[in-house]
Amino acid sequence: TDISKIRNFSIVAHIDHGKSTLADRLIQSTNTVAERDMKAQMLDSMDIERERGITIKANTVRIDYTAEDGETYVLNLIDTPGHVDFAYEVSRSMRAVEGSLLVVDSTQGVEAQTLANVYHAIDADHELVPVFNKIDLPASDISRVAEQVEDVIGIDASGAIAVSAKTGQGIKETLEAIVTQLPAPKGDPDAPLKAMLVDSWYDSYLGVIVLVRIIDGKLKKGEKIKFLSNDTVHHVDRIGVFRPEMTVIEELGPGEIGFLTASIKQVRDTRVGDTITHQRSEVEPLPGFKPAQPVVFCGLFPVDSAQFEDLREAIDKLALNDASFSYEMESSAALGFGFRCGFLGLLHLEVIRDRIEREYDIDLITTAPSVIYDIHMKDGTVTQLHNPADFPDPTLVDHVAEPRIKATILVPDEYLGEVLKLCQDRRGIQEDLTYAGSRAMAVYDLPLNEVVFDFYDRLKSVTKGYASFDYQLTGYRQDNLVKMSVLVNDEPVDALSMMVHRDRAEVRGRAMVEKLKDLIPRHMFKIPIQAAIGGKVIARETLSAMRKDVTAKCYGGDASRKRKLLDKQKAGKKKMRQFGKVDIPQEAFISALKMD
Ligand code: GTP
Repeated sequence: TDISKIRNFSIVAHIDHGKSTLADRLIQSTNTVAERDMKAQMLDSMDIERERGITIKANTVRIDYTAEDGETYVLNLIDTPGHVDFAYEVSRSMRAVEGSLLVVDSTQGVEAQTLANVYHAIDADHELVPVFNKIDLPASDISRVAEQVEDVIGIDASGAIAVSAKTGQGIKETLEAIVTQLPAPKGDPDAPLKAMLVDSWYDSYLGVIVLVRIIDGKLKKGEKIKFLSNDTVHHVDRIGVFRPEMTVIEELGPGEIGFLTASIKQVRDTRVGDTITHQRSEVEPLPGFKPAQPVVFCGLFPVDSAQFEDLREAIDKLALNDASFSYEMESSAALGFGFRCGFLGLLHLEVIRDRIEREYDIDLITTAPSVIYDIHMKDGTVTQLHNPADFPDPTLVDHVAEPRIKATILVPDEYLGEVLKLCQDRRGIQEDLTYAGSRAMAVYDLPLNEVVFDFYDRLKSVTKGYASFDYQLTGYRQDNLVKMSVLVNDEPVDALSMMVHRDRAEVRGRAMVEKLKDLIPRHMFKIPIQAAIGGKVIARETLSAMRKDVTAKCYGGDASRKRKLLDKQKAGKKKMRQFGKVDIPQEAFISALKMD
């Protein structure tokens, strides 16, 4: 392909602003897919993504477009993940293209993820084309959004294209803008091969499929290539492009985006951002590469311990396709055998947990999500704590440091008070507070630990869904952090132990034991429920003994009602685990940790 006729771009947008719908339209209007093959939201390949309306795996499509100047152009759209957990992947995808469509819902305006992603695009030196979507809706207000884009993002919005991805209005103008406003890629076809590994995923027929952007040189089938990060060599058995279905082609040249397969067995061996060259070539690695680092850890245990092997199989399979998901076996006194798993963030955790439960039909107990703490021992050594249950003897610990984040929150004025209060409650330190129109932008320094559990849910609920949120990790800081244990009937339940700030321990402990008291069913005996730090009890509740059989209140009269009650009890039983003599229902593990 003539490099001057290539345009590579991505779409920057906040969730629900219409990225997928617009992508579908661009594909459809250039007849890249026959109408009947057009599935809604072509680019989101996994069902779970479609259901949750989020895009996780980067994906790409090559579109041939004959422009008004009579020339045919090759447009490569790279889809970027739309969630904060995948910031590194976003930044890599952005490096693989020269420009972005900045899609803003003209009924809503700029949101936190619009900002976060546009910063990635600006970092990658992108040319930006503002696209104001949903102009078919009565609430659409283009001049307000234009003003906001200029104020908040600081780019010229006078040339913005007014689009309805729904009706198709403005699609032609968008395609023309891609051709005329975005630059063609640069690259030297005669230089040694240099390509960026943009993404990879596992396919059961072809093995690992690697998405690449060629920077310099050419890549052909049959060649031997090497990955610089791990110095592995692979024999390329297939190269091609997505239209959006896989189409095999002969070679990829500079500026092009396509895939290769090379009998690679594991996604783990292919790292996003890595540099690829020919086996015998020497090239400088691309800047900014870093291996995926899980930041949130939790234990996954089968509710039914007989399903442990099934769980192992499910986790092995999921890990094949997800290099950023880490796991190792774990055994817990209370929960038996399970896995300690590492995730890029909470959403990532939820997606994996959902897939295990749904696709593999395994009920899970998820222990409290935890971040990685640095434990500074008195002897000067530092260990990393992934699981609060492993906290060392406190008398040997000098201090504990925790990861912090910089959080950016955009919210309509009227909810600002609630947001500031929430951030304050979570030990946040305000760094910035600015206004753009009727919206406020608050920037907070927060402990990641205070955010991983339910911060996002809380934020959504106190702002009626109007706030948007984005974060990045900034580093570690020492604080007064302790391990809080929970004892049920005098037995420690390690799956409920958590790291807390000393000043918040009483409040958290109290909330936890009160919740557990409601969640644990009564037994034939009294059950003390306690929260403790070291040996010191900081909160205590007692669940009183059950007085009589639950069916007694039916007075033996209504047999069907009695049976229903017993059935209900039985179903409830299935989802419980025994701790010593006490049954604790599965939902207790999650609910007890939610802070109200
Ligand atoms: P994520 O994949 O979650 O990031 O969302 P997205 O940005 O891809 O948004 P999506 O394309 O899924 O659109 C979100 C919703 O807005 C869907 O219900 C679309 O049907 C709707 N929508 C998209 N574009 C338009 C438009 O131009 N007009 C109207 N009325 N609705 C639109």
